[in-house]
Amino acid sequence: MTDTAKLILGDQTIELPVIVGTEGEKAIDITNLRAKTGYITYDPGFGNTGSCKSAITFIDGEKGILRYRGVPIEQFVEHPNFIEVAWLLIFGRFPKKEELERFSALLTEYAPLHEAMKHHFEGFPVDAPPMAILSAMINTLSCFEPQFSKFEDDEAFEQAAAKLISKVRTIAAYSYRRSRGLPFMYPDPKRRYCSNFLHMMFSMPYSDYEVPAEIEDALNLVLILHADHEQNCSTSTVRMVGSSRANLFASCAAGVCALWGPLHGGANVAVIEMLEAMHKGGLTPEQCLKMAKDKDSGFRLMGFGHRVYKNFDPRARILKEQCDKVLATLGVKDPLLDIARKLEELALQDPYFVERKLYPNVDFYSGIIMRALKIPLNMFTVMFAIGRLPGWIAQWKEQHDDPTNRIARPRQIYTGPTKRDYVPMDQR
Ligand code: SDX
Repeated sequence: MTDTAKLILGDQTIELPVIVGTEGEKAIDITNLRAKTGYITYDPGFGNTGSCKSAITFIDGEKGILRYRGVPIEQFVEHPNFIEVAWLLIFGRFPKKEELERFSALLTEYAPLHEAMKHHFEGFPVDAPPMAILSAMINTLSCFEPQFSKFEDDEAFEQAAAKLISKVRTIAAYSYRRSRGLPFMYPDPKRRYCSNFLHMMFSMPYSDYEVPAEIEDALNLVLILHADHEQNCSTSTVRMVGSSRANLFASCAAGVCALWGPLHGGANVAVIEMLEAMHKGGLTPEQCLKMAKDKDSGFRLMGFGHRVYKNFDPRARILKEQCDKVLATLGVKDPLLDIARKLEELALQDPYFVERKLYPNVDFYSGIIMRALKIPLNMFTVMFAIGRLPGWIAQWKEQHDDPTNRIARPRQIYTGPTKRDYVPMDQR
């Protein structure tokens, strides 16, 4: 029996269908609300609005649950394989051995950039923001891959996905090398995804950067934990752009721009800047919390709080554990980790944070691991984008394959001037 919702508007009562998801989430279907009543709904920030039905990622914010195609993310910790998770997200099932081998072979084949693309990096200032370069170069990629502006079948889509997922690594590494005046390092076909990225970042023509297995696993896991997160700001942007039938590359380039914001993926940079300020003595954890609670300060406890999680972000829990493992493997001590722990402890005892159910989110500890890997601070959000790319691709494909998809075009409530006449210049 499907529920319905009764809406009484003046002397009109209408019934609206209720949609129930596979995990029991309920939504009132207002598809015909305006046609039936002339009314629209109003929900700035879309905190109460479902934009689509999706079978990719499930989040239970109250319980702190995150599952990719039904698999709890905790189950990817022991043998992290980012490329396998990327395939699972995009195609909705576990790849068979030969499918994963084929996909991995495509990623190896597609790792190099077109030689002409390399000259584009010289057009950027050496201190250009890496997220600006990433967004620009993903769009540039579409100029070199025109055949991927439409897909005949899943095989063509898999090739386009492999090109994007593979080349985004090379673009990111080359933007770093350019910023440091270092030579570009060609991808090494003998290396797997994460090791090849670190090779392109840190090898030199005369010395290969060796990647310990534990570090390769840690980077696979960091990317997995960022891989998808249902209808977050950047994913909704990818869907919005894709809903106009814009191509996959343009949609993902737009997603990079949305992710850049400090309230979203840019928070991982802001967390480290906040912890560094404390480490340098400019701020105590107590002062930091005081500012975060003062609305007039304009300051927020970065890496804390979430629109959906009103419990621990399960990714933060895993990343916090990974910090110890990665730092121990590398023999690194990072004072910022101790400060982060202290900050978390104080915040979780503070009524302001407890009442508002503000917990550490994915960005609170991720930066500690990236620092240990010697990823520069201004590339932390690029790492988030590399991780999130398979999720964007999966969400774009789900919408693209949906025959009922319509262009996204929200309504508004107009609050501007009512009808008035043009005023000639000599009467103003
Ligand atoms: C990501 O959506 C996703 O899934 C995103 C993401 C993904 O994987 O795609 O999980 C990745 O973006 C994680 C979030 C990274 N951003 C930050 O860490 C920035 C700091 N956090 C906040 O700005 C905030 O918590 C947001 C942006 C994450 C969520 O904002 P909401 O849901 O709009 O919450 P809100 O601003 O309405 O806050 C509710 C209350 C307010 O206080 P009151 O008006 O009720 O008194 O909580 C307060 C806020 O002032 N609050 C904070 C706070 N976060 C919320 N106060 C201090 N510090 C904070 N961090």
